[in-house]
Amino acid sequence: MTDYLQHPINYNTTAFANIFDEMSLWGARFGMFMLDHLELRGGITALDLGCGTGFPLFELAHVHGPSSRFYGVDIWKAGLERAAQKLAYYNWLKNVVLIEGDGARLPFPDSSFDLIVSNLTINNFDNPGTVLVECARVMQKNGRIVFATNPKGHMREFYEIYRDVLGNNAAALEKLAANENHRLGRDEISTLLESAGFRVNRVVEDEFTLRFLDGSAFLRHSLTRVGFLDGWRVTDPAEEEVVFAALEDRLNALAREHGELRLTVPMLYVEGTKHR
Ligand SMILES: C[S@@+](CC[C@H](N)C(=O)[O-])C[C@H]1O[C@@H](n2cnc3c(N)ncnc32)[C@H](O)[C@@H]1O
Repeated sequence: MTDYLQHPINYNTTAFANIFDEMSLWGARFGMFMLDHLELRGGITALDLGCGTGFPLFELAHVHGPSSRFYGVDIWKAGLERAAQKLAYYNWLKNVVLIEGDGARLPFPDSSFDLIVSNLTINNFDNPGTVLVECARVMQKNGRIVFATNPKGHMREFYEIYRDVLGNNAAALEKLAANENHRLGRDEISTLLESAGFRVNRVVEDEFTLRFLDGSAFLRHSLTRVGFLDGWRVTDPAEEEVVFAALEDRLNALAREHGELRLTVPMLYVEGTKHR
C-alpha cells in the first residue's frame, strides 16, 4: 500500500551519500541549465555553495581548466566525504578545495571570490537572506553570483490534486501551502539579491516535464522520497495511510487520462553582480 511512507531517508549516512549521485538526473537538469547560461572566464576564484557530492563543482573546475581555483562548501558532512572520494580520483584537479561550512557563516575573508554558483540550494537555506548577505561579504566588487533553482509553480499538477484530496482539512492545507510556497520565485530572489548588495543583471526562465508511468511510480521514485515526500506529510499520522492511498488513486486516474503522469517543473537562472 503506502509502503513508501515506511522508509524515511537518513541523509547523514555514507550509504545515502553514495547513492545520491543517482539522483543527479534531477540536479543535472538545473546544473546543465546553469552551465548553458554561465559566461566562462579565466583566472577566477569561485565558490560552489551547497556543492553536495560535488556537483556542479567538479564540472565547473573541468570546464574552466587550471587557471582558476574552486571551493566547494556544504554543511552536509557525508556529501562532502563522497565529494572527497571523487576529488581523490580526479587527482589532476589541483585547484579544487572542499570545506565543510554554512552559507550563513562562510569560512572565508572578505572579497575572496569572483564567482559564486549555487545549484538547487536557495530553497534549502534556512535563511536565504542571511546567506546572500554573507555571499556579498566574500564577493569581490563586480563579482558574479548565480543561482539555478526550481521556483514556485513546481509540480503544480500534483499540488492541485493533493489540495483536492485534503478537502476541508484546514490544518493540512495550510502546511501544504507552506510547503508549496517555500520555493522562492524570480521576484523574491531578485529582491533578496538587491538588498544584499547585488544588481540582478540576468534572469532566464524555462521549464521541463517530469514523466512517470503513473502516481504509484511517482510516489515511490527515489527523487520523490529524497527530495519531497517529507514535506508532503501534512496530515495527522493516523490519517496518513488513507490520505496517501487516495492521493495515489487520484494521480493514477490522471495518468490514465493522459497516458502517463506529467508534472511541470519551472527552472530559474538568476545572475547578479556585486556593485558595492
Ligand atoms: C538539493 S541539494 C543540491 C546539491 C548540489 N548543489 C547538486 O546540485 O547536486 C542542496 C544542498 O544544499 C546544502 N545546504 C543546505 N543548507 C546549506 C547551508 N546553510 N550552507 C551550505 N550548504 C547548505 C545541502 O546540504 C545540500 O547539499
